[in-house]
Amino acid sequence: MKHVVSISDLSKKQILSILKRAKELVPVAKGKKKSKSLDGKILATCFFEPSTRTRLSFETAMQRLGGTCIGFADPSATSHLKGETLVDGIRMVAGYADAVLLRHPQEGSARLASENSEVPLINGGDGAGQHPTQTLLDLFTINEEMGKMEGLNVGMLGDLRYGRTVHSLSHALAKFNNKLSFISPDSLSMPSYVTDDLSCDWSSHNSIEDVLNDLDILYVTRIQKERFPDLEEYKKVASAYIIDSDLLKNAKSSMRILHPLPRVTEISTDVDDTKHAAYFRQAFNGVPVRMALLEQLIGGKK
Ligand code: CP
Repeated sequence: MKHVVSISDLSKKQILSILKRAKELVPVAKGKKKSKSLDGKILATCFFEPSTRTRLSFETAMQRLGGTCIGFADPSATSHLKGETLVDGIRMVAGYADAVLLRHPQEGSARLASENSEVPLINGGDGAGQHPTQTLLDLFTINEEMGKMEGLNVGMLGDLRYGRTVHSLSHALAKFNNKLSFISPDSLSMPSYVTDDLSCDWSSHNSIEDVLNDLDILYVTRIQKERFPDLEEYKKVASAYIIDSDLLKNAKSSMRILHPLPRVTEISTDVDDTKHAAYFRQAFNGVPVRMALLEQLIGGKK
């Protein structure tokens, strides 16, 4: 494992090894135990798109393990504004750090960057492409919440066209032999370049009611307003689904709701206090999972 651009870059064995180590690192992630496994290491965080969870959980992961971060959250304060290309920028940043974390609005940008980086390049989200470290924390969360991550009925709801988290997660859940139900308006359905590669049972639906009572996991996504070429098209689907506590009366009591966050209106706040809501625990899980990944990419002693 050198670069992590797509979830397909990781074998099943590598994924399981990261999740096992993440479990051990939970007390370190919570600040209850100390570790210096990344002592002296530097992560460069290059964010050409907004982020709260990905950037801050990677920074926490580095600092809890004794490492440090350099980087930017606003590309307009960098030489990108003077016309520097991504390739030139990454070549240079790779000389300043032991690993580079990149978020960029263009699909394929992380692959291009990895081809020009001498140190591990981690894709923190490339447009509507992939978000592999989100997938690792999603798998960790499913395993924690359900006691397994195989043989489950998983529904993915919302913007399956532009939502990169569901593209990565579909591949990973297929590897672990789960059944997938894709729920979206027709205009936001899962792209065929994702479904063509799925080695598991899957089906497509417009209505959440069609599948809700069979689901073990409901993975809700935000409609990705920023990726619509036409705002009028966004407005037509902006409120396509709203999950509220009333709707959940038809769900299994063990069913858990995940969301990569941020949410807008797709999950009502009255769900937050129900047994179904796992999305804030999911957001925390980004810290131990990213610690485990960083240890494997650039780590020294444990
Ligand atoms: N889940 C996720 O990628 O969140 P951010 O956009 O806040 O990083």
